[in-house]
Amino acid sequence: MNNEYQQMLNNARRGKYILGAFNVFNHISAKAVVKAAEELDSPVIIEMSTSVVKKLGIRNAISLLNTVKEEAKIPIIIHLDHCVDLDIALECIDNGWSSIMFDGSGLSLEENIKRTKQIVAHAKKYNVHVEGEVGDIKGTEDDIHSDVSLLANFEDTMHFIEQTGVNTIAPAIGTAHGQYNGIPHINYELIERLANESSCPVVIHGGTGLSKEAYERFIKCGAAKLNISTAIKQAYIDAIIQFSKKEKVVYEPLKADEEILNAIKEVVKEHIMLFNQLKK
Ligand code: 13P
Repeated sequence: MNNEYQQMLNNARRGKYILGAFNVFNHISAKAVVKAAEELDSPVIIEMSTSVVKKLGIRNAISLLNTVKEEAKIPIIIHLDHCVDLDIALECIDNGWSSIMFDGSGLSLEENIKRTKQIVAHAKKYNVHVEGEVGDIKGTEDDIHSDVSLLANFEDTMHFIEQTGVNTIAPAIGTAHGQYNGIPHINYELIERLANESSCPVVIHGGTGLSKEAYERFIKCGAAKLNISTAIKQAYIDAIIQFSKKEKVVYEPLKADEEILNAIKEVVKEHIMLFNQLKK
């Protein structure tokens, strides 16, 4: 288990706030997340989805993220998001990631337990933290798509935690990856029961587009980590569109980078402030 990360999660629960985990895909997005967290003096998780890691290459990806981490003035955890591939998960553990999520949501509960256990056993040797998923979270994240939420229940989730020894748990509670069409029906009771009856910190996926009240309830229920991806991607592309719409086209790539970075930074700050709204 990664002690620094565990400490950060414990501090969040005790201090009545949630750790923001933001999906990044290149140097600008990673830098923007860190700058936002520095301006709010808040610890943060920078996570990368497995498809991005595959495109960049595991070593390039970790070296990019490590560079950003080394320059940072706040504590940072580097996390691999939604990995379905056992070999990639094991390779990331060997190559310096602080935390990885094994996504066995497409498997039966017993098969998910079996594979997650293998990852946990390997991760322990390197003090790497493992996040598991129970149920199936709706929407598209990375190359993984699900039209229906297969919601998790308390008994299966506890069974999964006990059998696998994961360090954090992401149960499908009714949130979804991507923007929401309506108001999602969220099983807050499950978060609260898990937070009270298990020592395994609860992670919420599908964080983009929820109300201030939903974030507040997550904090009150005892969730410890919340993932944001779509909002970052939208800020990135919208900033490019805005930049290209200027009256006179500016052929200055670094100027464009600066505007993209600032746009993402503002979105991340808004979310961190929402996650800190009840902070003691
Ligand atoms: P959103 O894309 O809805 O923010 O979800 C992010 C997520 O859960 C990444 O794992």
